[in-house]
Amino acid sequence: MKLNIALLAGDGIGPEVIDQAVKVSDAIAKKFNHDITWTAALTGACAIDAVGEPYPDETHEICMKADAVLFGAIGHPRYDNDPKATVRPEQGLLKMRKKLGLFANIRPTFTFPSLIDNSPLKRERIEGTDLIILRELTGGIYFGARGRLDDGNTAFDTCTYTRAEIQRLAKLGFEMAMARSKRLCCVDKANVLETSRLWRETVQDMEKDFPEVTVSYEFVDAVAMRLVQWPNTYDVLITENLFGDILTDEASVISGSMGLMPSASIGIHTSLFEPIHGSYPQAAGKDIANPLATVLSAAMMFEDAFGLKEEAELIRSVVNKSLAEGIVTEDLAGKNKAYKTSEVGDWLAGNI
Ligand code: IPM
Ligand code: MN
Repeated sequence: MKLNIALLAGDGIGPEVIDQAVKVSDAIAKKFNHDITWTAALTGACAIDAVGEPYPDETHEICMKADAVLFGAIGHPRYDNDPKATVRPEQGLLKMRKKLGLFANIRPTFTFPSLIDNSPLKRERIEGTDLIILRELTGGIYFGARGRLDDGNTAFDTCTYTRAEIQRLAKLGFEMAMARSKRLCCVDKANVLETSRLWRETVQDMEKDFPEVTVSYEFVDAVAMRLVQWPNTYDVLITENLFGDILTDEASVISGSMGLMPSASIGIHTSLFEPIHGSYPQAAGKDIANPLATVLSAAMMFEDAFGLKEEAELIRSVVNKSLAEGIVTEDLAGKNKAYKTSEVGDWLAGNI
């Protein structure tokens, strides 16, 4: 199969972890006789430095023409510490999500048997956890009107959702639940927010179209608590943009390291696959970052964008093997030998 993939490495550790995902994908292509064309493009702080814009038109063109986008991470401390910066790397990410129509962000959380004791949570709490948070990605407070009033002394951000935006996200959630345990949790703050009441009303109206799915409605504050107490009682959760952002970071600690969890963003145009971690600037260039979240994002890409399930399964199985054999970066090594980012990538590719 011919696979035309846009490669957006981004900033910080992005290029290093992306390199390993490319090694692994190339090994898969060789084994299964696929022909991958990688087209690199700029995004994030590196794009601001090069062309003054975090998501240049040229990058968008490349993404639109590709069959999938593999993305590293963006962000740079130079901008984090400067609240007055008018151009920021993160704007590139938001623009990209909006222009590619990536309205659904799929963030799975699962445990790896060999890492269960790496989690800060007790084994008995997290064993068997296998949940998906489906986060709305192109609406809500991230994209609402914002500004300053009162000579800059008052600030506002607004959260808006349309019924259609909620329906298209919820439909995916119902379909995912149908393919899994037929349980769906709608996470909102309907005791306070009008947008949340519209979410709840819309999802309730859709229940009749999916009679086999059992839907629960929970407030986001309660979910934040339950997620770390009994994560294995959840299956598919759907939620709006900001709640999803917060809950997915929280959920990532269940697996033991932020460096492990992949994600997929899907919608209208080309789908995008990226690790859920950020650009981790402190580790950039040191060859120490954990590449597994990006490698597992490549696995999601093979399966979801190209329907290549066997290829995805092979990547997951060599990742499990590397964990079981201790071929891991310093975040997971504990007292044992820590391998370099590139060594983990070489080992994975070699085992494929
Ligand atoms: C994420 C990130 C982004 C977000 C930032 C970098 C804008 O935290 O992908 O979760 O908030 O969506
Ligand atoms: Mn986030």
